[in-house]
Amino acid sequence: MKPALPAGLSIRVGDLPTIDLSKRTLGLLGAGNMAEALARGVLKAGLLPASRVIASDVSPERRALFQKDLGVKAVDNNDEVIRAADLLVLCVKPQVVDEVLAGLKPNFDTERHLLASIAAGVPTARMERGLPAGARTVRIMPNTPMLVGLGASCLCGGTHATDKDLDAVEALLKSCSMVLRVEEPMMDAVTGLSGSGPAYLFYLVEAMTEAGVAEGFTREQALKLAARTCLGAAQMLETTGLDPEELRRRVTSPNGTTQAAMETLDAAGVREKMVAAVRRAAERSRELGRGR
Ligand SMILES: NC(=O)c1ccc[n+]([C@@H]2O[C@H](COP(=O)([O-])OP(=O)(O)OC[C@H]3O[C@@H](n4cnc5c(N)ncnc54)[C@H](OP(=O)(O)O)[C@@H]3O)[C@@H](O)[C@H]2O)c1
Repeated sequence: MKPALPAGLSIRVGDLPTIDLSKRTLGLLGAGNMAEALARGVLKAGLLPASRVIASDVSPERRALFQKDLGVKAVDNNDEVIRAADLLVLCVKPQVVDEVLAGLKPNFDTERHLLASIAAGVPTARMERGLPAGARTVRIMPNTPMLVGLGASCLCGGTHATDKDLDAVEALLKSCSMVLRVEEPMMDAVTGLSGSGPAYLFYLVEAMTEAGVAEGFTREQALKLAARTCLGAAQMLETTGLDPEELRRRVTSPNGTTQAAMETLDAAGVREKMVAAVRRAAERSRELGRGR
């Protein structure tokens, strides 16, 4: 089930796209959690009617969910998707990408089909190698908050992708995510910053919760306070457009509680460690890309 935002909170993640996709048919290869988030976003934004979306999955449970909850046709084979759809999004785990590409290749029409992929760490060159020459591909790096309609995604085009192709994929993604276009070498940095990023915030919430419990709250109370504080602070960044440093300055009175906390963090080098952690994640992504 799609987790809902707490009552009273909604965050606008970007202007809804103006591009007309109504003549396109979206084919989701793999109907897992991320595909579901994308399908829900597209249907909710009215980008496409359910009759113009088709999904495939090996799991009968996932197919049943797409059929019953979303009203989207869900089939047990990728052939039917590639025959029905022109705008394809690969939503399987990276380990099965090559196998899925091999199955798609005989029916892939380079004029008609565009293949986007959300599979982490799979470069456009690998997609192109698995498809007929001239195939148009787009690589997307989403993050898990897409599951609540608040993703932060980056995309880049393969060798043959056109601006129109990137526009179409961006329009789809904007229904559940903010979107930045980047050059492909930046994708490792994207992984380190926004791809792995939700975990950094969960870590912070874990630590704040631990402190709350040490101060006498129940775990449930402390977790609620910490989580809502992160959500509210993020919403302030989005809605005010102010720099985080300025927002921080506004809650820091001279010699007050926040200043005492910030001095503790600075003395422990937390900022430098945070920078190092993100950069290490990006480096790890580059290592994985080289097969290490
Ligand atoms: N940047 C990020 O933070 C981020 C976050 C999440 C996901 N991603 C990427 O998004 C992709 C999807 O992730 P997810 O969490 O949605 O995964 P998921 O829930 O496991 O979804 C993948 C679905 O594809 C099905 N499947 C397996 N083989 C298939 C095949 N040959 N044809 C069609 N369907 C097949 C799986 O079924 P079975 O489970 O039965 O095998 C599963 O239902 C992954 O590649 C991941 O790297 C990135």
